[in-house]
Amino acid sequence: MQPSKKLKKTKIIVGVTGGIAAYKIPDLVRKLQVNYDVQVIMTKSAQDFVTPTTLSVLSGKNVALSLDVDNGLIPHISLLQDVKLVLIAPMTANFGAKLAHGFADDLLSTLLLKLNCEVPVILCPSMNTQMFLNVATQENLKTLKNRGYEFIEPRTSLLACGEYGTGAMPEITTIQATIDAFLGKSSTNK
Ligand SMILES: Cc1cc2nc3c(=O)[nH]c(=O)nc-3n(C[C@H](O)[C@H](O)[C@H](O)COP(=O)(O)O)c2cc1C
Repeated sequence: MQPSKKLKKTKIIVGVTGGIAAYKIPDLVRKLQVNYDVQVIMTKSAQDFVTPTTLSVLSGKNVALSLDVDNGLIPHISLLQDVKLVLIAPMTANFGAKLAHGFADDLLSTLLLKLNCEVPVILCPSMNTQMFLNVATQENLKTLKNRGYEFIEPRTSLLACGEYGTGAMPEITTIQATIDAFLGKSSTNK
């Protein structure tokens, strides 16, 4: 009898930036890795909210944290190999501003500049309502939309800061369903 071949999972990148909603990302990564090969990348600030250790255990691989050359490989180039989709969740106001203006001062921003939307890049801006509605943020998000970035809009609810308004990260199930729709998969929400 032929040994059964292990099906190669579709590779996606989950970029985590330093918003309070980062506490929900371990649950998302745990669910996504059932169907996807999940490479997590974190900004320095994201590591104040959730640890690389947690996300490394749940994704089953090292979390990428820096631009440093690793074993002769340049991370912002090598991590993009075979990638089919990038999710940024939560995306801070700061990261949206950097992306809109072409900054490349950490691994995640540099990698996105290199990628140039060659595969779907889904952004989940999540922040306090005033930060979200600030004209600077709105103009940055508009720039990104015009450049082909995909968005899952923030929810309106009671926010972690105690205020009620728009800025909450979409539900994990919504993010999961959006990724599945882009990649033509159907997942169970376990
Ligand atoms: C407790 C706390 C919660 C924060 N939550 C958010 C947030 O939800 N969204 C946001 O845009 N910034 C938030 N910030 C500010 C970001 O952490 C800050 O702008 C940081 O520089 C973002 O870095 P990064 O974009 O490189 O991850 C928060 C800061 C603190 C101290």
